[in-house]
This record gives sequence, C-alpha cells and structure tokens, in this order.
Amino acid sequence: MTEPGEWLIYRGAGEPHGGITQLPPPPPWRDFAGRDASSDGSADRRLGGYRHEAELHRPGAEELEMINAALYLRRPLLVTGSPGAGKSTLAHSVAHELGLGRVLRWPIVSRSTLLEGLYHYDAIARLQDVQIAAHRASADGATEGGEHQDPSADIGSYIRLGPLGTALLPSEQPRVLLIDELDKSDIDLPNDLLNVLEEGEFGIPELERIADRLPDGEAEVLTDDGTKVKVKGGRVQCRAFPFVVLTSNGERDFPAPLMRRCIHLELGRPDHQRLATFVRAHLGDEAARAGNDLIAHFLERSRSELISTDQLLNAIYLTDTAAPAGRDRLADLLIQRLDRPR
Ligand SMILES: Nc1ncnc2c1ncn2[C@@H]1O[C@H](COP(=O)(O)OP(=O)(O)O)[C@@H](O)[C@H]1O
Ligand SMILES: [Mg+2]
Repeated sequence: MTEPGEWLIYRGAGEPHGGITQLPPPPPWRDFAGRDASSDGSADRRLGGYRHEAELHRPGAEELEMINAALYLRRPLLVTGSPGAGKSTLAHSVAHELGLGRVLRWPIVSRSTLLEGLYHYDAIARLQDVQIAAHRASADGATEGGEHQDPSADIGSYIRLGPLGTALLPSEQPRVLLIDELDKSDIDLPNDLLNVLEEGEFGIPELERIADRLPDGEAEVLTDDGTKVKVKGGRVQCRAFPFVVLTSNGERDFPAPLMRRCIHLELGRPDHQRLATFVRAHLGDEAARAGNDLIAHFLERSRSELISTDQLLNAIYLTDTAAPAGRDRLADLLIQRLDRPR
C-alpha cells in the first residue's frame, strides 16, 4: 500500500461492498479470539506477545523495591502516575512473573461500593425461584409432610463474591487484586476499603444468620473466577494476604490513614527507552525501530500535552501495518491531547 487512503475499508461511498473481508487481524492488544478460560489472554494483551523474544528494559530500582516491600509487608501498593505510565499493567507483570494466576480486577467508578467488591446477593432471583417452586408444588398438589427442605439452605447459590471478596479467600499463595483508578471513587470508599484490608476478612450476613442450620456451617458460593467455593460460618478470612495494587491518576488525594497503610509508588512518565520497550513487547523489534521517530515526537509533545502510551501504540501499529503513506499526519490524528476540550 503506497497511496494515501488505499488502506480505507469503509469508503463512505454509500454503495455496499465486501471490503470487510480485507480487514487485517487486530492489533495484539485488541485480539479477543483464542482466549482460554483460565488466563483470559490478558497477559499477552497487556504485557505484549513479543516480550519473550524482545530484549526488554527492566523496571527501575525504586519500582522493584516498592513492589517487593509491599509483598514482604503484606501491604497494598498504591501506584500513582499519569495515564499510560503503566500502573494497571504492573499488577499483571507481578502476577505473570510470580505465577499467581489471573489478576482479579475491580475497576472503580463513582458509584462503586465496598459491598460490590466483596459480594453480591441476588435476592430477587431467589424470590422468583421460591415463588416458581411454590407454584409448581401447589400445581402438583403436593401435600405437607414430604421431605421438607430448609428454605434457607440454598442461599449460597445466589451469592457471588466480587473481586475483593475472592482475593480474600483462603489460599496458599497470594492472589493479585487490581483496584483500578481508585481516585474515581466516591469519598467514602477508600476508608471503607481500608478496614477490610486491615482485617483481611469480612462477613456475609445472609450466611452468618443461617450458618448453624447449614451442613458443617458451610455454604457454597460462586467466586469472581466463576468457580464454586465453600464458605464456613458466613465469614471469609484470608490466609495469604493478597497482593493488592491500588492505582490512581492523581485526580484527588487520599485520606492520611490510607496513605499510612499503603506502600506508595509514583511511576514517572515513561522515557524513550521505556516506551521503546513497550512497543517492542507488543509489536516486535522491527516495529519499534520503524516507530522510533514517532516515539521521539510523542515524548516531545508529552512535555506540554497530556497524551497516553496507548495512543502511541495505536499510532505505531496503524501507520506500520496499514498506512505508511501520510503516517505523521495519521499519528498526530490518533495521538490527541487528553487534557483540554477539543
Ligand atoms: N511492562 C510493560 N510491558 C509492556 N507494555 C506495557 C508495560 N507497561 C505498560 N505497558 C503498555 O502501556 C500502555 C499503558 O499502560 P497502563 O498500565 O494501561 O497504564 P496506566 O494504567 O498507568 O494508565 C498499555 O497499552 C500497556 O499495554
Ligand atoms: Mg490504568
């Protein structure tokens, strides 16, 4: 492809055509095919599929020390820095290197509550099921005195642990929990969270109430991974404290008690070497070489504008794969500044 515009698949001409079959495969970080249930493919999507072949830059000494301090001290790691600094990916890097399994992810929005992170009890579904069962029983003309089941026995089937609740299940190795963009939360969430993270346990009142009527006091509930686990006495208590990564774009300050109990790591804006590493990890050495000037231009712009690494990856991928002609203009179109209304 040499002519500008030759890569366009949707042409805006109004005439239907079969061009969609010409669409090349997606960039690796947007490839959702071939996920397997255990890993959900997120390691490759976030860390890059080329990272094993490419020569990679190592995290800085301070970054390594703070991550290890959080691991040793069983404290949450609060990671701050501008968008695209690599805050969220850090959780995946640690989980991947230490073989800690799928990262439990809790994306925070302004209406997120502690309860949602811990568990969800679907009272309405249960009510419907009870009504349907009662209806069937009366239609069948069932009489009293048959095997009479405790109506509370099945409450566990309507409980699903959230990412935080799942991270606190007892396990030999710590789970990795990413509480992403905590600065988007409502004012109370950081403090609420602090209590649970201090205690490493929580109760599920719906189960605590009926625990003495359950076999061995245990109820089976669903986890955030979609598996079933037994919860005894309605309480979830961690054994290995999870590796908790709290991220923040710095949109607001956190209360002092939270800061005091976290290990704080500030990720600086990635430099040329680090950006080149990201590009190599996702797109390979050749693409990184070809995109070198775009990286330099990106860095130049990032001194005065808020732009993100993801935009740079998009620009290098698209200009490399689809549109070598007019690439600088296209790159500038894709890397739009995020810090002022357009
Ligand atoms: N260690 C890494 N290896 C490869 N790519 C990375 C790494 N860290 C970050 N990236 C890439 O950089 C981009 C921004 O990272 P992200 O973690 O989303 O930043 P943040 O959460 O700080 O906004 C993502 O596209 C991600 O894939
Ligand atoms: Mg992020």
